[in-house]
Amino acid sequence: MVLSMERWVGKVAVVTGASAGIGAEIAKQLVENGLIVVGIARRKEKVENLAKTLSDKKGKLVAFKADISKTEEIEAAFAWIAQNVGPVAILINNAGIHFRDSLIDGNVEAWRKTIDVNLLATCVASKEAVAIMRKNNIDGHIVNINSILGHYIYDLANLDVYPATKYAVTAFTETLRLEINSLKLRIKVTSVSPGCVDTEIFNNMDRKIYEEIKKCMLKPEDIADGVIYALSTPPHVLVKEVTIKPVGEPF
Ligand SMILES: NC(=O)c1ccc[n+]([C@@H]2O[C@H](COP(=O)([O-])OP(=O)(O)OC[C@H]3O[C@@H](n4cnc5c(N)ncnc54)[C@H](OP(=O)(O)O)[C@@H]3O)[C@@H](O)[C@H]2O)c1
Repeated sequence: MVLSMERWVGKVAVVTGASAGIGAEIAKQLVENGLIVVGIARRKEKVENLAKTLSDKKGKLVAFKADISKTEEIEAAFAWIAQNVGPVAILINNAGIHFRDSLIDGNVEAWRKTIDVNLLATCVASKEAVAIMRKNNIDGHIVNINSILGHYIYDLANLDVYPATKYAVTAFTETLRLEINSLKLRIKVTSVSPGCVDTEIFNNMDRKIYEEIKKCMLKPEDIADGVIYALSTPPHVLVKEVTIKPVGEPF
């Protein structure tokens, strides 16, 4: 199998949550590979700052401000992208949140927000992207940034509804793949499931637990490398699942 990003050069990719962590690194690597990347986030200025550091690369990063917990903002983003940047060929559903609340006496609004961002936004953005790929006859690729918590649960304080949303992403990825197959579309769907990666998502974690976990963590570029691998496969090859764990991770 020959791995190459050549067929994506000049094509449009959308990365949600491109202002920090894993999403910022994926956006960077896609730009280095010659894609026109639209980075969606609430903190648009962070995406703009990243874009400046990439100005001498093969591709380009365009910042778009949207709160993806709001369906209408996702729809508006895809309409703007189609009109102003071009038809989407790659969607990276990356944005995610984890409040680290309790399931016994936690805040229902925090749970709702987590479901809206981690699950519903992934569904809505995928719907928008597939519609554009279908209309433009694009053999595209959707990558869902999942988690090892989308496949099994380990004992860590205050996991709240986060694993439930990631299990749902696992189910959504496979259901979408089958629906795409039934329509005979040539759009790939991949789940990428990281173990612990050192990003802002741990900012609200108990510092003692964080210091323990930090002994064994991945870097955002490790996950971006996994995404590029899945995207680099020839058109007839689908990498369905990429699980990336730090060596020695205790769970
Ligand atoms: N870090 C890990 O250990 C780990 C492990 C497994 C899976 N993951 C998954 O990897 C993905 C990225 O996480 P990360 O670790 O890179 O987290 P992060 O550093 O906290 O970044 C999260 C990103 O999501 C965006 N985001 C959050 N809420 C949003 C909203 N309402 N609208 C638009 N954008 C929003 C943030 O942008 P703004 O705040 O600017 O809007 C930010 O760019 C998530 O899906 C996460 O579940 C992470």
